[in-house]
Amino acid sequence: MKKKLTRFDLQEMRDKDEKAVWLTAYDFTTAQLAEEAGMDMLLVGDSLGMAVYGYAGTVPVTMDQCIYHTEAVRRGAANTFIIGDMPFGAYQSGIEDACRNAVRFYKEASVDCIKLEGGTRVAPIIKAISDGGMLVMGHIGLTPQSSSAQGGFRAQGRTADSARAIIEDARAVYEAGAFAVLVEGVPPEVTQAIIREIPIPVYGIGAGDCHGQVMICSDILGLFQAFTPKFVKRYGNMAEEFSKIFKAYIDDVRTGAFPGEEHVYRMIDGEANKL
Ligand code: KIV
Repeated sequence: MKKKLTRFDLQEMRDKDEKAVWLTAYDFTTAQLAEEAGMDMLLVGDSLGMAVYGYAGTVPVTMDQCIYHTEAVRRGAANTFIIGDMPFGAYQSGIEDACRNAVRFYKEASVDCIKLEGGTRVAPIIKAISDGGMLVMGHIGLTPQSSSAQGGFRAQGRTADSARAIIEDARAVYEAGAFAVLVEGVPPEVTQAIIREIPIPVYGIGAGDCHGQVMICSDILGLFQAFTPKFVKRYGNMAEEFSKIFKAYIDDVRTGAFPGEEHVYRMIDGEANKL
């Protein structure tokens, strides 16, 4: 049976320069397949707003939706380190709400850590949740929940001044007690500076080489159609596969090719005559 990683394993992986690989998952089946494939971690990201619910961004996602999907993922991947993503509104209104919602993730969805967006400005929240005995992963750089404040979904840290602010964010989340940090949408030079600045695992999405990568599941599968960010590598075209299968099923039913003899239940011998 696969052994679930702990924060200490993840730290050791960083120290030995072994990459951690993680992916988003929002449902039981995907979680089960990802665990079987040997994924190190699963993130039940608030990206489910776009990938599952069809919202334009992550802002409308609620705490209840996140809990609901995280429970399903936990059922599919009992032996995988699972990250619960705090949605917009779960921690912006203050430390007490933030701690209450982090506790919900632990009690209702059996997460191994929670993740929240922001650097220096959320450091007191990270500290309070960590002081409560829970694990927190920071998320800095491009932070989709504040995309309107950041001027849209765009790369961050492309000037020396803005890069310096992101490095300060990394230090603030580390000092507040985060055990790891996710860096999104920044140039590799900024990621490398963060790695030199703090001793905890630094993971990336659109941030170049670091201690591990996360991708959105529907992006690598080639399922999400609305847009594909520059940093995504598609490993297949599942949208095309879905479409082929759906069309074949429609044709089969319309032409009478399905259901076939092998798909029906037969009555017990003699019973059809009696009927
Ligand atoms: O919600 C999410 O899926 C994320 C990604 C940026 C990894 O936070």
